[in-house]
This record gives sequence, structure tokens and C-alpha cells, in this order.
Amino acid sequence: MSADAGSRDDRAAGPVVRPRRLRRTAALRELVAETSLRPAQLVLPVFVREGADAPVPISSMPGVVQHTRDSLRAAAVEAAELGLGGIMLFGVPETKDARGSGAVDPGGILNLGIADVVAEVGDALPVMSDLCLDEFTDHGHCGVLDAAGRVDNDATLEVYAEMARAQAAAGVDVVGPSGMMDGQVAVIRAALDGAGASDVAVLAYSAKYASAFYGPFREAVDSSLVGDRRTYQQDGRNGLEGVREALLDVAEGADMVMVKPALAYLDVLRRVRDAVDVPVAAYNISGEYAMVEAAAAKGWIDREPAILETLMSIRRAGADVVLTYWAAEAARLLRP
Ligand code: PBG
Repeated sequence: MSADAGSRDDRAAGPVVRPRRLRRTAALRELVAETSLRPAQLVLPVFVREGADAPVPISSMPGVVQHTRDSLRAAAVEAAELGLGGIMLFGVPETKDARGSGAVDPGGILNLGIADVVAEVGDALPVMSDLCLDEFTDHGHCGVLDAAGRVDNDATLEVYAEMARAQAAAGVDVVGPSGMMDGQVAVIRAALDGAGASDVAVLAYSAKYASAFYGPFREAVDSSLVGDRRTYQQDGRNGLEGVREALLDVAEGADMVMVKPALAYLDVLRRVRDAVDVPVAAYNISGEYAMVEAAAAKGWIDREPAILETLMSIRRAGADVVLTYWAAEAARLLRP
């Protein structure tokens, strides 16, 4: 077709090229839809709180709770029944200390939660766990601190190795290192393999940016963070660096890589998807959830279409897997 055919404006005949033809009916739109959204592509992040006797609502994340061990089990069964792609566990310990001891303790809340969920769902639902210290440290950082109060990369790696072994012993399928320490994937892979857990996969939070949108998560895990995470999480001005981090993690043995947050970093997500040959995940984080929920509660946007449009945008940008607090609800909305 000649270049000007599409722009021909012949008053008698009208345009020759009419993209609207393929939008005329729902069935035609279905036929030519480029992007899919299926429950199996969605992972539900969940919080389990030590010592809770009832689920505790998280005020900045309406509809999301800190689970008890029992309500967590029920949520996992529901996730499996809905055909979700997985469940990602975060622990909220009763006591925190400088080293984050609760993270490596086999009786720590996260490790107990993993074992509970695995006992409940077996192989029917991939069980994933956050592998990071911020939920367990009293200073709220993702690693241990040196004498000067800086996050000590290599000392932290030793704790991550121990944490990986504890999570593997609890039966986890996939560990998700989210602390942005250099070399964390290699150390965790070696620790797992050394412990006879070579089947446990690593979903690396590779391109993880320092973000204002983590705000509600800090409430979700009762975080006591003083200061910020800018010496280890990435600077939002850098896209190329996100690709570099993802390539490093693949070289260190990551089975999947993640971009996080999702919405403010959809360009990084696309670049990472184009650069690596492993599945790419994106985390639709707490602040992204809270924005939609807050606007919907005010009647300013139509909640359900906004949820599906948000998730679809992340898929279209290149995510094979989407972590989202809406996973269960979206699975219900997607039912034919
Ligand atoms: C770190 C971690 C965080 C989130 C997931 N893993 C917090 C942070 O890095 O500050 C945020 C998730 C969300 O905001 O939904 N363990």
C-alpha cells in the first residue's frame, strides 16, 4: 500500500484504512487482543503477623490485612482454588533486633508461615517468600549495619544465606531476595545448593528503585525505618542501571527477575524484558494499590476497570508475572 493511502481523505469514499473495523464487536476485539491477563500470571503478596489472634486491617491498604497463621492458611487455599500463579509471604515478627534474628530462626513467623502454607497447598500453588531483613530489623534496613551505622553489604550476605537455608527447610518453592545487596543472588544460590535445595528457585528483585510508593507497605510490616534506602535501592533517574542489575542477577543464577515498583517504571520493565531470557515479574506495589483504592473510595474512578487496566498495563509493558494485592479479586473478575 502506498504511504499516502491511509491518509487519503476522499470526500466521496472516506478513509480506506479504518482501524475501527476491528473494534466493532466484542468478539472482533477479542480476536485481535495482543495482551492476555490470566489468574496463573498473578501472584498474591500476603502478610503474616506473629502472635495475632485475629487478622489486623492495614489502614493504608483497604482490603489487605496482616494475617494470623490460620487466616493465612485459608487465604492460600483460596489462592490455589482461584488458580493463581503463586503466593508471596512477608513476615511481621513480634520483636525485632539489630540483626533481624527472627528471619533465620526456624520458629520465626515467616518460616512458620511458609511451612503452614506448604502443608496446606502442596504443589498446587507455588509458595514464595520475601528474602530480606527489613521486616525483622529494629532499624528497618534491609541488611545489618556496620559500626558506623551503614548497611554492610557482605555481612548482610551471610545472613541472607542463612535465611535462604531456613526458608528452604520450611519448604518454600521460590525465594525472593529484595534487599538489593550486591552479589545476593550468587550467595543465595550457593547456600541453597549447598543445603541440598537445588530445586528452590530464585526470583530476584533485580531492578528495585527507592520509591515513595512503598509507603503503605511500611505500615503493613510495622516498619521502624529511620532514614531511607538510597544507598542500596536504585535511583529513579537510571533506566540502564535497571537493565544492568537484571543482567547481573541472571548471570548469578536468578531463575526469574523482577522490576519494582511497576507503574512508575514501565519503561524499565520493557527494557528488562527485551534484555533477558528468563521470565520477568513486576510488583504492583502498596502505594500503587492505595492510589486506586483511595480514588475509588472517593468515587473519582471506576474501581474494577481501573484495577484490570492497571494490571494489563504491566503485562503489556512486558511482565510475564505480576505481583498484586488484587490477585484474588482480579482472578474472580477475569472469570468468563
Ligand atoms: C523489602 C520489600 C519492600 C517491599 C517488598 N519487599 C519494602 C521496601 O523495599 O521498602 C514493598 C512492597 C510494596 O510496597 O507493596 N522487604
